[in-house]
Amino acid sequence: MSTTLASPQASSVKVQYTDCFINNEFVPAVSGKTFATINPATEEEIAQVAEGDAADIDRAAKAARVAFDGGPWRKMDARDRGRLIYKLADAMEDEIDELAALETLDNGKPFRDSRHGDLPLAIDCLRYYAGYADKIHGSVIPVRGNYLCYTRREPVGVAGQIIPWNFPVLMAAWKWGPALAAGCTIVMKPAEQTPLTCLRMAAIAREVGFPDGVINVVPGFGFTAGAATVKHPMIDKIAFTGEHITAQTITRDSAATLKRLTFELGGKSPNVVMADADLDAAVKGAYIGLYLNQGQCCCAGSRLFVQESIEDEFMAKLEKMTRARKVDDPFASDTEQGPQVDEKQFNKIMHYIDKGQSEGANLLTGGKRVGDRGYFIEPTIFNNVSDEMSIATDEIFGPVLSVLTFKDTDEMIRRANQTFYGLAAAIWTRDISKAHDFAARARAGTVWINCYDVFDAAAPFGGFKMSGYGRELGEEGLKAYTESKTVTIAL
Ligand code: NAI
Ligand code: MG
Repeated sequence: MSTTLASPQASSVKVQYTDCFINNEFVPAVSGKTFATINPATEEEIAQVAEGDAADIDRAAKAARVAFDGGPWRKMDARDRGRLIYKLADAMEDEIDELAALETLDNGKPFRDSRHGDLPLAIDCLRYYAGYADKIHGSVIPVRGNYLCYTRREPVGVAGQIIPWNFPVLMAAWKWGPALAAGCTIVMKPAEQTPLTCLRMAAIAREVGFPDGVINVVPGFGFTAGAATVKHPMIDKIAFTGEHITAQTITRDSAATLKRLTFELGGKSPNVVMADADLDAAVKGAYIGLYLNQGQCCCAGSRLFVQESIEDEFMAKLEKMTRARKVDDPFASDTEQGPQVDEKQFNKIMHYIDKGQSEGANLLTGGKRVGDRGYFIEPTIFNNVSDEMSIATDEIFGPVLSVLTFKDTDEMIRRANQTFYGLAAAIWTRDISKAHDFAARARAGTVWINCYDVFDAAAPFGGFKMSGYGRELGEEGLKAYTESKTVTIAL
């Protein structure tokens, strides 16, 4: 494992793989078309990438189907399957600096985050699931009459996996880990903004010995390659992370083939600071909870509820910390915030900053573009926000915090739950009763108490309401890649 700590230079990052990866081969798109992937820090093209479409998804789905139905993958001992996943994790660790640099180049997140956050988490996730490969089993069921009844847990088949651009390597690991452990084969469509690291991971998987057709990666756009994945009759399941509107389209498009669906969608998560909280810890939690990854997190604590009596003291500290946040070249070693991923997201965020002001919220700090090249935005805080303003209801997916205040707990919980999302919620308090009461009453799939953004491959993650269904990570995440079969034998 490399121990380099200094940041690499953007210009030294090598881009080796830009074609579709199908049946263990890199091949151009059938149409011959390509599209540009952009460095969001400079707005310059990094490379042209194969633009996969229905014809390429068809080739990938057929390769994955053959690998699932008859290939060596299907016959492989589960323990050997686990060993291959461990090898993939080890090989990614050997190339951790290069993968992290490529992630930063394509996505814009600070190198120190991709190197010390995304990559280690992705590798850990693969190892967690590698250990599961030989521990997937059903149970023996006592039934009436003279029968032996047992269940088997079998792989669901070919998994279509559609991922977003905010954590490209990590989302690939969250989806490959359980699918491979369960014995599925994969057709992955990475986000059009960030295809490069996923293609490199595919090359690494081939090097360590994954058989033909087990992992296929087709870069391309959502309405073409993505939609073709959803509709393909040889694909059994869709695992999707992204916007709820896309999930609704996927639900309709998958109806004809009744695919198994798991969705991890957005949020407008409440992060609550009670008057009795450890204020310094809560300030840090509010800051990380929102600004991590340029604010491009599905679970971002974008509605900060502060109890009235501590508002002035708390906001003074948070404002100071926010103003000091270093927004700069993501390859510089002291950069805390890089650019937003692309022009579309940049424009969406600037639109909400305008809207916040026109709706009457107070722009406490930030609100402007940084520099004139790259999609950089100042860390931004709005206070005097009311519940119905669009900056309090809509997922902005950028470094824009909305601060709301409250008097008492019941009022706070009612308002915290007043959102169609339900991904995460957090509370900062020294009172254990208030903490558990909140944990029980929050309508969200994850609750953090006196912490934020704590993820572990073993801990299930997913949403209530419009934040999706099904869970990723942990045993629940694995089960989402299996079918249960009941076998009954007359004795
Ligand atoms: P999106 O949901 O459109 O894109 C996510 C993935 O779905 C990409 O790979 C895309 O190509 C694919 N996709 C798009 N349309 C599809 C279709 N009809 N069929 C199949 N696949 C399709 O999200 P987008 O447009 O990148 O971002 C829009 C907003 O969504 C963001 O501003 C943010 O609010 C939210 N979002 C939430 C994420 C999360 O982690 N929950 C991740 C990314 C975006
Ligand atoms: Mg979209």
